[in-house]
This record gives sequence, structure tokens and C-alpha cells, in this order.
Amino acid sequence: MQLNKIYQENCLETMRLMSDDFLDMTITSPPYDDLRDYNGYHFPVEEIARSLFQKTRQGGVVIWVVGDRTVNGNETLTSFRHALTFQEVGFRVHDTMIYVKNNPIPSDCGKRYRQAFEYMFCFSKGQPTTFNPITEPTKSAGQKITAFRITGKGRGNVPDEDIGRKIKSERKVTNIFAYNVGTSSSKDKIAFQHPAIFPEKLVADQIQSWTNQNDLVYDCFMGSGTTAKIAHQLGRRWIGSEISEEYVELANERLKPYLSLFDTASA
Ligand SMILES: C[S@@+](CC[C@H](N)C(=O)[O-])C[C@H]1O[C@@H](n2cnc3c(N)ncnc32)[C@H](O)[C@@H]1O
Repeated sequence: MQLNKIYQENCLETMRLMSDDFLDMTITSPPYDDLRDYNGYHFPVEEIARSLFQKTRQGGVVIWVVGDRTVNGNETLTSFRHALTFQEVGFRVHDTMIYVKNNPIPSDCGKRYRQAFEYMFCFSKGQPTTFNPITEPTKSAGQKITAFRITGKGRGNVPDEDIGRKIKSERKVTNIFAYNVGTSSSKDKIAFQHPAIFPEKLVADQIQSWTNQNDLVYDCFMGSGTTAKIAHQLGRRWIGSEISEEYVELANERLKPYLSLFDTASA
């Protein structure tokens, strides 16, 4: 099938064209809770989760970015339902990461704090085979680990074998990621004709974490083409589905400056 292409169709149709164990990674954000009107399209989550499981190779991952709507004062918990569905079809819930919005859209949230995050579930088919963690400098680099220094209250849960070891100069960042949303999340003005684009940095961080060069990245709800653009820039092969003709045109227009004519490939 042709790669580096957005298929204008239901993602279930695109996945039918794929051989099993085809994808290294999927990163996507589903049209949950009818939060926005994507030209009226809906999606069957269980069927999609099953297809993704079949088409993901052993050790591959799905990054599923989803939030919840509040209806009559009650959060829908759609995000949790999705996570349970992915687990039921065979995926592991490898990590529940949080995507915090630095500049959330102002809204009247009544007797609640301002809503500022979504879940970024990492569903894996078995143990992920690729993990290139993002790291940050460690403040106490070089100092020896003592039970007291780490916990402040005796041994706590510091494993015996770690006591006396030197603290490394780098450590993994936490699973809470903060990004700007809105106009500062991409320089491509055209992208904002879509109502719900991913921050580009979010996609870059996740693709770099879970894949290597030339791996194949899929977005089953491609929208404005953010996944395609970032995968291309990072030297990954990619494939996408988007049901709306309008958004496929938008995404192709957005991608034009980034993709050369020689990028089409097949697998
Ligand atoms: C949350 S948006 C994705 C936005 C995307 N992450 C971006 O950066 O632009 C979800 C998209 O899924 C599309 N969609 C809805 N149902 C679909 C289906 N069954 N198959 C493929 N695309 C679908 C909608 O048209 C919408 O553009």
C-alpha cells in the first residue's frame, strides 16, 4: 500500500488494506464526546481498537490523546472507557501520560478549577521494543544516593542496591508534558482551519520516544496533518486516514511545502 499518503476514508477501511503487524506506532486523537462537530462523523471505538491491535507489530505502541466532556455536571469518563476497551482487545496500558495545556482556552467552569489537561495513553502490544526517553539534567548529579537524602524519612522505598550509588547527570522527564496550544503550537496558519490540531511538539516528543528513523507511524484521525508533517521531518515513514474530504485537502495543502515529490513509497 502507498505510504506517505492520507487516505480519505474511514480509518477502518485503511486498516483493512494493511497486512497484520504493519505499524510501528500510531499517534492520534479521536473525535471523542462530540466535543466538536467534525462534519458529523462518528467512530466505533472498539472496532478501531481491535484493528489497531491487529495492525500494530509486537512491541509497537498507540498514543491515544483524549479528554472528557462534562455533561450536566458529570464528567463522561470517555477517556477511561477508551483505555479499558484498548486493554480488553489485548493492548497493555503501558503508561497514562498527561498533556497539560500552558494556555488553556478560557471557559466558565462553574464550581471547578479550569480544565487544562488531556490524557495521553500509551497502549503497547507487549513490552515496547523502542524507547528513546527524553531526559533532563539532574540537580544533585554525582552525589551519593542515601536513603535519607532521597526520602527525607528513613529508608522509604529506596532499593538497597541503589544506596551508595552516584546520582546520574541525566534523568528521564516525568510523564506530565506541558505544551502551548492554539496559534503558538504551529507556524502553519492553514492548520488552524481545523478545530482541534495537535501541538507539533507533543507529536515530535512522542514519535521520537517510541520510534526510530524509517519506522512507520500511523494517524487514524489525521485532521490537519500534524502527524504527517512531524513524522516526515523526523525521518519516519507515515500513513494517515481522514474521513473528511475538506480536512484531507487542508492537510495536503499544509504538507506541500514540507514534502518533496520523491517521498511517495510503498510497502
Ligand atoms: C481530533 S481531530 C484530529 C486532529 C489532528 N490530531 C490534527 O492535529 O489536526 C479528529 C479527526 O478525525 C476525523 N474522523 C472522525 N471519524 C473518523 C474515521 N472514522 N476515520 C477517519 N477519520 C475520522 C475527523 O474528521 C477529525 O478531523
